[in-house]
Amino acid sequence: MFEQDLLNKFNTIPTPFYYYDVEVLKQTLQHVKAESGKYNFTVHYALKANANNEILNIIKSYNFGADCVSGNEVKKAIECGYSSEHIVFAGVGKNDAEINFALDNKIFCFNCESLQEIEVINELAFAKNKIAHIALRINPNVNANTHKYITTGLEENKFGINLWELESVVSALTDLKNIQLIGLHFHIGSQITDLSSFKSLCMRVNEIQSWFVSHKIKIENINVGGGLGVDYHEPDKNCYADFAAYFQLFSDFLELRPNQKVHFELGRAIVAQCGTLISKVLYIKKGVNTNFAILDAGMTELMRPALYQAYHKIENISKNQKLTTNNQQLKYDVVGPICESSDCFGKAVNLPETQRGDIVAIRTAGAYGEVMSSGYNLRERVKSVYSDKI
Ligand code: LLP
Repeated sequence: MFEQDLLNKFNTIPTPFYYYDVEVLKQTLQHVKAESGKYNFTVHYALKANANNEILNIIKSYNFGADCVSGNEVKKAIECGYSSEHIVFAGVGKNDAEINFALDNKIFCFNCESLQEIEVINELAFAKNKIAHIALRINPNVNANTHKYITTGLEENKFGINLWELESVVSALTDLKNIQLIGLHFHIGSQITDLSSFKSLCMRVNEIQSWFVSHKIKIENINVGGGLGVDYHEPDKNCYADFAAYFQLFSDFLELRPNQKVHFELGRAIVAQCGTLISKVLYIKKGVNTNFAILDAGMTELMRPALYQAYHKIENISKNQKLTTNNQQLKYDVVGPICESSDCFGKAVNLPETQRGDIVAIRTAGAYGEVMSSGYNLRERVKSVYSDKI
């Protein structure tokens, strides 16, 4: 993926930095557009995955909506030109200022996670003499078969309204005059690669829909959230998630009522593969049973491995360029400079013999990478570089 002239450019830019391949992003967006378009599905990009202006502008140019989880994300989406009527706002802890901001900007829908939250939105909307559109985020109790920290749709999780609360929540809505129920919302988790989890979600949505029909409550919008996973192991071979199978599954298994619209909130599957964390090897150190390759990037730039034991493919791109058959691979623990033992990108990683100054690429880092970076150890905020601007 990284040609010699790109490597030459990388050598002139201070590391670490995120490199975004704009072509990969555009290709991904084209796939999403084409496959979702077949069924007239609406896709909202989940800003939480990557909220860089350049990325947001490109995504917006494909006419996607925005899925936000904070007032600042709503603000950012509006500033980047996403139209308010295509913004959805989720989150278990929306504060009053965030709700007011979203009300003032007439967003499409609040995805609500508890009755108390709905009551507060009603009260704030009443004070502004507005009607807030809401969807009930229902916890479908469906297992996403993914890492426990990114599973959201089980009863033990803090997200959504539990099925056993539905009756009482729905009956309470009739007294709340400044809200209008326009949809149901679900999100079972992230990095889901087993599509059968989404099939289980469809089945559960169908059951829940029957409940609403039997209560004569009309639902216009079904939002099934995001969560489609990507291939962290083979980013070149499987650069694009199987959007065709994903959208087709919802078309095949969701039982829609007349005029219902289906919404998606994809984050990772849109931006993960276009981003790479580029870092330089500072030192090679011999350990007892291993060699350490100490990089100038750490968990402050990409915290997924430290937080979720997440796998990211690591390549020494200075050496891969010259790789010949007799070039021996060695095992390295690839670590960062932060004063934490969890600051490790990968253990026993096979790399060609690696030296100080080599450029290392940590792949599939476009989603939940830069956006989760921090200033711990008073590190400088990581920079970003775009393929169409270097
Ligand atoms: N909608 C809702 C309500 C969500 O909570 C999320 C992600 C999404 C959509 C987008 O999900 P995606 O399509 O990106 O899977 N930091 C973790 C991932 C956290 C996901 C949080 N919610 C990671 O690095 O793996």
